[in-house]
Amino acid sequence: MQKLSIKGKNKLNGTILISGSKNATLPILAASILAKKVRLTNVPFVKDIFTMLELLKFIGIKIKINNRNKKRYIELKNDEKSIKTLAPYKLVKTMRAGVLVLGSLLTKYKKAKVSLPGGCAIGTRPVDLHLFALKKLGAKIKIKNGYIIAEAKKGLVGGKINFPSISVGATENALLAACGAQGETVISNCAIEPEVIDLIEFLKKLGCKIKISNRKIIVKGIRSIKAQIKHKIIFDRIEAGTYLVAGALLGEKIIIKQVNPEIIKSELNILKKMGIKVLKNRNSITVFKSKSLKKVKISTKPYPGFPTDLQAQFMVLMTQAKGVSKIKENIFENRFMHVPELKRMGAKIEIRNRVASISGPTKLNGAEVMATDLRASVSLVLAGLIAENRTIINRIYHLERGYEFLEKKLKNCKASIKRI
Ligand code: EPZ
Repeated sequence: MQKLSIKGKNKLNGTILISGSKNATLPILAASILAKKVRLTNVPFVKDIFTMLELLKFIGIKIKINNRNKKRYIELKNDEKSIKTLAPYKLVKTMRAGVLVLGSLLTKYKKAKVSLPGGCAIGTRPVDLHLFALKKLGAKIKIKNGYIIAEAKKGLVGGKINFPSISVGATENALLAACGAQGETVISNCAIEPEVIDLIEFLKKLGCKIKISNRKIIVKGIRSIKAQIKHKIIFDRIEAGTYLVAGALLGEKIIIKQVNPEIIKSELNILKKMGIKVLKNRNSITVFKSKSLKKVKISTKPYPGFPTDLQAQFMVLMTQAKGVSKIKENIFENRFMHVPELKRMGAKIEIRNRVASISGPTKLNGAEVMATDLRASVSLVLAGLIAENRTIINRIYHLERGYEFLEKKLKNCKASIKRI
């Protein structure tokens, strides 16, 4: 099994181009079931995207991948030939976003059988809110043998969906379903993550009428689908945040390009509060390491709050701040799995309930480590970059699920990192 070997303490200097967002691409891929022909650009070529493409291929969507460097795109065609309304266990179990095909399949083909994704390392992650939304549009749903079996014999009908709590995936499934439903759907208390907004932009191009204000989305089902559409995926704000932390830790000067600073205000505010120099431009951000970092408190929240997907990376930054910094994780019940590994590297972190207290500044020492999810793994890469001596990261398949060209991007900035 491959590992990453990092020799710490190199100063970082250079430019990093941020890839397209994995978490925006996944629901848009699920939405392409509703389309005829779609060309997507700025797609990150990471493992989770290929898993979703495999699922779409199984369903019957024709896929063409152009991997030539500057003109990369993915083309998807639904020619309505031999479509299966099934998402099997083997393709959903490795990636929860597979459950997003439920909304598209059900609204278009009036039935769907989709494997329950099950829990995962960061929490139990149920899908009750997804099912709640579909039922409000008239779906009949039962769970049998580990599968969600959904049906709407006469098709879905627009309705009111008032979510009891905010969920990104359930909002996306509700949107997909509402697009093919008859009449108007009002979705309240919804997620407004930039990835949800990108899905809305895509669905509008398909011919759907959608209005959004505060946490309310009004959707008018598609009357006629556009024959061919093109869409450029939004930048990956979590990847951007990850490299901003790398720059804040070690950057003589790191420039992050292909981003919109307006979208990542909460992250930039935290960096500023910690005393890090950040310069914003229209599509780029420059970050410099600061001599001393101030302690800070973070509480993860749905967008526009601070993202749970950056909590582990910011924790590494906090190990270098003076005093006791705190992180409250409000979204997932088990998202501190990086903590024992960071402690093995010398970090001083205490966890009580959902709050981690990080004392600093602390010297980290290289060690052999492993993590159990994507963001926890990348936090160990960041820790390795600032640690004395060598850090070996095991189970790097987690990183491959969501970080495109991770080693190359870091090496270009003079990090000493290699695959062994
Ligand atoms: C999305 O997951 C992201 N994944 C996650 O990114 C991200 O951490 C999460 O949103 C929160 O921002 C994708 O976009 C593919 P949720 P999702 O439904 O949609 C509970 C990464 O590292 N909940 O907003 O699954 C749930 O358990 C990943 O890239 C229910 O109770 O997240 C959680 O506590 C990991 N019932 C909270 O809501 C439901 O039916 C928010 O989860 C659905 C969710």
